[in-house]
Amino acid sequence: MSPAYTKPGPAFDLTGTSPTTPTYKLNSGHEMPVVAYGTYRSAPGEVGPAVIEALKAGYRHLDLAHVYRNEKEIGGALKQAFDEGIVKREDLFITGKLWNSDHDVDIVPQACDTSLKDLQIDHFDLYVIHFPICWKHTGLDTPGYGASELGDTSLIDTWHAMEALVDAGKTRSIGVSNYPLVLMHDLTTQAKIQPACNQIEVNAYYQRESLVNYCLSRGICVTAHTPLGGGATNTETWGTVNPLTEPLIKEVADACGKSPAQVLLRWLLQRGICILPKSVKPHRMAQNIDLFDFSIPDDGMDKITTLERYHSFKSNPNPLPAFLGGKDAYSAEGTDIFD
Ligand code: A2P
Repeated sequence: MSPAYTKPGPAFDLTGTSPTTPTYKLNSGHEMPVVAYGTYRSAPGEVGPAVIEALKAGYRHLDLAHVYRNEKEIGGALKQAFDEGIVKREDLFITGKLWNSDHDVDIVPQACDTSLKDLQIDHFDLYVIHFPICWKHTGLDTPGYGASELGDTSLIDTWHAMEALVDAGKTRSIGVSNYPLVLMHDLTTQAKIQPACNQIEVNAYYQRESLVNYCLSRGICVTAHTPLGGGATNTETWGTVNPLTEPLIKEVADACGKSPAQVLLRWLLQRGICILPKSVKPHRMAQNIDLFDFSIPDDGMDKITTLERYHSFKSNPNPLPAFLGGKDAYSAEGTDIFD
């Protein structure tokens, strides 16, 4: 059956063989490198040197978040990188995220300022609502986690506070993360400034076709977090399946002369999706951005599409156990906001 909607065309050019990362022109008019360096689950003492390595490896888009609790260390690394001339601020695209316990309208600008101060920068390129859920505020330096309670600010009021950040010059673009389709539509019908992106979990085992097409057809960039399915880390932590060890991925990778990780990442790019792979290992960082001198042929793309398992790793971070044992845990397993 042919789709009734107009399938969106690619919003960035993958045809060249230039080693430079292509950019996606956001609906705000700003250009965003299509590969970001992710910093979730990077340990203290590890993340600063890793960011410097990532910059040296050519990453120009950094994906950060207040709840990762590593902004101060990254701020030190950025200062070092600017002082040593490794990169200039204007050549970097920096994404930050508003945490669940900072949704209250008066807290939003304070939360943004706290992150900017810790990062030693004066604006974000993109600032996103991390999850579509408001928790009670627990202090700017102590993001709520554990037995969290639902707060009383609506998502649209938080969004309007985000819009004010653009007007105040604190961020050039605003967006959301982990928004399902119905909430995306609720937002787009009410926003004064349309969201520039939705950062969501997408990988070969969790392909999100309707949500991706909804966003792309409305000029909203999709960025894939957990593009490698969390790699071995998720398998070790939660015993989940790992697409990096999938035989079919290896087969396509061998045919392309590339690694399984490169094929998983390039498959997303060829679907028009930006990516944020995370590795603290320099050889993997280099590999994860070296994606522009090959192409997966159509039959390889189709084969990977057959891997869909509707399997969410919900790893960034899973909001479900964050409710465990709290007043607002509505089941023994906690509250699943994707229910
Ligand atoms: P490490 O940081 O030790 O390299 P995701 O981006 O889907 O969240 O996956 C991140 C996980 O995948 C991390 O455990 C990371 O480990 C691992 N990883 C990142 N890049 C690669 C790669 N090119 N090959 C294999 N594993 C990778």
